[in-house]
Amino acid sequence: MNKPLAHTPPMGWNSWNTFGWNINEELIKTAADAFVETGLKDAGYEYIVIDDCWSEKQRDENGRLVPDKNKFPNGIKPVADYIHSKGLKFGIYSCAGTHTCAGHPGSFEHEFDDAETFAEWGVDYLKYDYCYKPKSADGENLYKRMAMALRNCGRDIVFSACNWGNDGVLNWIRESGAQLFRSIGDIQDNWLSIQGIVESQLTHEAYSGVYCHNDMDMLVVGMHGKGDNAEVLGKVVGGCTDTEYKTHFALWALKNSPLMIGCDVRKMSPETKEILTNADIIALNQDIECRGPYCIRQWNNPEKVFALVKPLCGGDYAIGMFNFSDKTSEMSLQFFDIGLPTSSGRGLELYDCHKHETIGTFTERYAAQIPSHDCFVFRAKVVKK
Ligand code: GLA
Repeated sequence: MNKPLAHTPPMGWNSWNTFGWNINEELIKTAADAFVETGLKDAGYEYIVIDDCWSEKQRDENGRLVPDKNKFPNGIKPVADYIHSKGLKFGIYSCAGTHTCAGHPGSFEHEFDDAETFAEWGVDYLKYDYCYKPKSADGENLYKRMAMALRNCGRDIVFSACNWGNDGVLNWIRESGAQLFRSIGDIQDNWLSIQGIVESQLTHEAYSGVYCHNDMDMLVVGMHGKGDNAEVLGKVVGGCTDTEYKTHFALWALKNSPLMIGCDVRKMSPETKEILTNADIIALNQDIECRGPYCIRQWNNPEKVFALVKPLCGGDYAIGMFNFSDKTSEMSLQFFDIGLPTSSGRGLELYDCHKHETIGTFTERYAAQIPSHDCFVFRAKVVKK
């Protein structure tokens, strides 16, 4: 108790993107098994989070939340115990309003009791949504309430606020006590959604940092259109190429977003696994200083081609070069623009975080042809030339 939580962005898995309401004890336990078997745990992923639809539609006679009797016949605690036995942490979901987005009981006016219930069950992480907030209630105050309840429930519980960037959340979330905050609406498993989220967050770096991270929503890496909608509609909806998923992952990593996987971790392709367990990319996301990146746009294609540059602990820099356009485009990063004039007599030694090798030392600039929707990500070292 009383140790600071979520120094760096939390990493884990959340049931919503792929399974929606279709969740149960077996699924959550086998997701935990997959974490261990596939190497996700070794790569740093820690939290297994059950999203909406885990409870009965009514509280019990004492006003306590009741796990769905069909989905979780043994209750929630054995699930948490199982996850803990694998050396992982367990997360659950509730809502600041009277009901969750899917119509289950929310925690409005039950905050302290629910926090106590979660602590009893062994919960380590709470995602807290924003549906059905009474119109007269102040959202800022409701997040402060649940933060206080969690901080005093007798257990370390990471507070993941999810009000989709509404009501000026950037201006009050850090002091509320939350460890992460959703800054945007729900991600969809398609390239336009990924691109739109990134564009909406490029100017928000000042609000994110150690102990309180800007959550750009769960990852869609590896979903390939097999989200919950696929089940409803009987067909795959959207999906991205592996190149687009690789770029999505690099963007979330460089932006210091929490890395919460959203695909079916029990059925990952080798490509998906390679993207999600890339230690060189994850290290950029988990850098202990948690400094967000600044953006440098390509002068002749500023809307679509840009670099993200992020200072890392110890002197290295993370550099990502991205091409959002539909054709191969050049990005030339002038080192002058990131603080390294040629007159310094120094250059950058670039280590490619996807090839996992040093590609050379460059002075003045580095220019590359980036295929459509692709990226290059480097760890750069300042060296004397
Ligand atoms: C909202 C959230 C999603 C998910 C659903 C569950 O839309 O933004 O991430 O939790 O609710 O109903």
